[in-house]
Amino acid sequence: MTWAHACGKVILCGEHAVVYGRPAIAIPVTEVQAQAYVEAGPAGQGALVIAPDLDRRVVVRAAPDDDPLAHIVRGVLKAIGQGQDPDLTITVTSTIPIARGMGSGTAVSTAIVRALARHFDHWLSSQAISDLVYQTEVLYHGTPSGIDNTVIAFEKPVYFVKGVTREVFWVGRPFLLAVADTGIASPTREVVGDLRRRYQADPTRYEPLFDRIGEIAMAARSAIAQGQTSELGRLMDENHALLQEIGVSCPELDRLVAAARQAGALGAKLSGAGWGGNMIALITEETRGSVDMLLRLAGAVRVIITQVR
Ligand code: PMV
Repeated sequence: MTWAHACGKVILCGEHAVVYGRPAIAIPVTEVQAQAYVEAGPAGQGALVIAPDLDRRVVVRAAPDDDPLAHIVRGVLKAIGQGQDPDLTITVTSTIPIARGMGSGTAVSTAIVRALARHFDHWLSSQAISDLVYQTEVLYHGTPSGIDNTVIAFEKPVYFVKGVTREVFWVGRPFLLAVADTGIASPTREVVGDLRRRYQADPTRYEPLFDRIGEIAMAARSAIAQGQTSELGRLMDENHALLQEIGVSCPELDRLVAAARQAGALGAKLSGAGWGGNMIALITEETRGSVDMLLRLAGAVRVIITQVR
């Protein structure tokens, strides 16, 4: 049996403004993972994907073109010259929370690509993996930005401007983040649509706010590269205030952000689309215990501590 894994991700800063052409940063969350296991199947079976967590069993040759699991398997087999439906059983599992902006679908695709390439002793670069996964992202999202497949394939922070650049960059000094879940599914499409309507009604109100969020993403990139952790915390706090101002936070997120700061976090903000979903807090070894505890007391249903390096 061959296996491979892929990490989750969160947006560190720049969400929403990124839709309007400003930069954003996404970071890998390696403490949660999708795994794919590949083994030879009975003769004549063809490629079969079993995803117990999703309650899915997909016979690749019989699946519709737009089935994401079948799509990624077909894509990678073709790319590595094994296009003739080999007899394989691919089992997929994941600890990445679903529908929380943590890239669970992207990670499943990435793990499948890596495991199949490994099974056939075929080396694929991180860029090639990212590009293959992007093709399947189009099925999930229509017009994906490409940030999720890049951050997950490279397992490094990615600085991103829609349609312009996707750059992997290095971390000057590793840092710790707490990722806390409000327990409310974040309705990304609705939040983005609502903001779009408010923006169209009054662009002059939102443009300067988006500009400032973009400046924060640029400054955060240099702070991370130079290992300036407290500056990064300050930028996260300011980013959250701007996200509140553009109307994408909610009382549950604000409560978690306040709790993290009270427990000694260097900075805290919502992460992703908002109106629920996750928040993130910049912590240290000294504050991780108290931040974790106060976040749970303030209503977090899950807290993941991750090191970014
Ligand atoms: O929750 P996520 O990781 O899917 O992030 C949504 C990020 C937005 O900027 C709000 C939307 C987008 O398409 O970039």
